[in-house]
Amino acid sequence: MPRKHLLGIADLSPFEISMILDLAESTKSISERTIKKVPTLRGRTILNLFFEPSTRTRLSFEIAQKRLSADTVNFSVSGSSVSKGETLVDTAKNLAAMRPSVIVIRHGVAGYPHRLAKLMDASVINAGDGFHEHPTQALLDLMTIRERKGQVEGLKVAIIGDIARSRVAGSNILCLSKMGAEVTVMAPRSMLPYHIKKTGVNVAANLKDAITNKDVVMALRIQRERDSVSRFPSLREYNRYYGLKMEHMQYLKDDCIIMHPGPINRGVEIDPEVADGPLSVILEQVSNGVAVRMAVLLLLLGGRNIYEVSD
Ligand code: CP
Repeated sequence: MPRKHLLGIADLSPFEISMILDLAESTKSISERTIKKVPTLRGRTILNLFFEPSTRTRLSFEIAQKRLSADTVNFSVSGSSVSKGETLVDTAKNLAAMRPSVIVIRHGVAGYPHRLAKLMDASVINAGDGFHEHPTQALLDLMTIRERKGQVEGLKVAIIGDIARSRVAGSNILCLSKMGAEVTVMAPRSMLPYHIKKTGVNVAANLKDAITNKDVVMALRIQRERDSVSRFPSLREYNRYYGLKMEHMQYLKDDCIIMHPGPINRGVEIDPEVADGPLSVILEQVSNGVAVRMAVLLLLLGGRNIYEVSD
């Protein structure tokens, strides 16, 4: 992949998305071995900068880097000079002076990874920027769908929840649409972007309509950390109208899969019986996160010869 950075799905062509998913099938096999390590990125230094909390993304990037033998450095905001008033640009210039090969960044400001990319010689990977994009999440979601369904083109996918403030929704709508899936969203009006219909997705009137006859149903968490505005009367009411519950299973196709990027708020956007039930692929998404992040690192750093991932 001649691309230097992975900043968003918006930049990627369907060919590039397929190339990442194809390579992730190979990198997944490394995680299934007894010795889960190949020397491909030996000598490369990767900085993980997480300015927002993360469990899955941060750990899976670190595991992916270690499985590829890269040297991994984790940057903690609370222990850094950012907390002493250093600007983000100055921090970035100082990081660049240490000559890392890759910077993985999660930041609350939409577009900050793009700004960083302009200041750095290193490759920059967006691990989530504000409400904007979370490209590796969309890629691991597509990998999971492709594994279960064989292809993405022609599938009907419902995304339920806080569409307006979710970077997962933003990247998934782009990624699924580029790969030929039909996307339907459903949320309280206060959680839908004003121009949602211009994105080409369908907007369902209620949960039953949204999930009936779908191949994939994805539930999203309420992004309460993004602003202080309350967008619904109560969590109880939200769960009543927008939460996936056992009573909804009757409307799903037998082979429908249920997805959630995590972290889950059980009893709010999804009930425990559904999250842990037979249609759920939530933990498969987490496993595929390591494989996709290995593939992205290899493609950004290694060019095409990285298809040789054997040890
Ligand atoms: N899906 C996701 O981004 O999870 P984390 O916030 O735990 O990284």
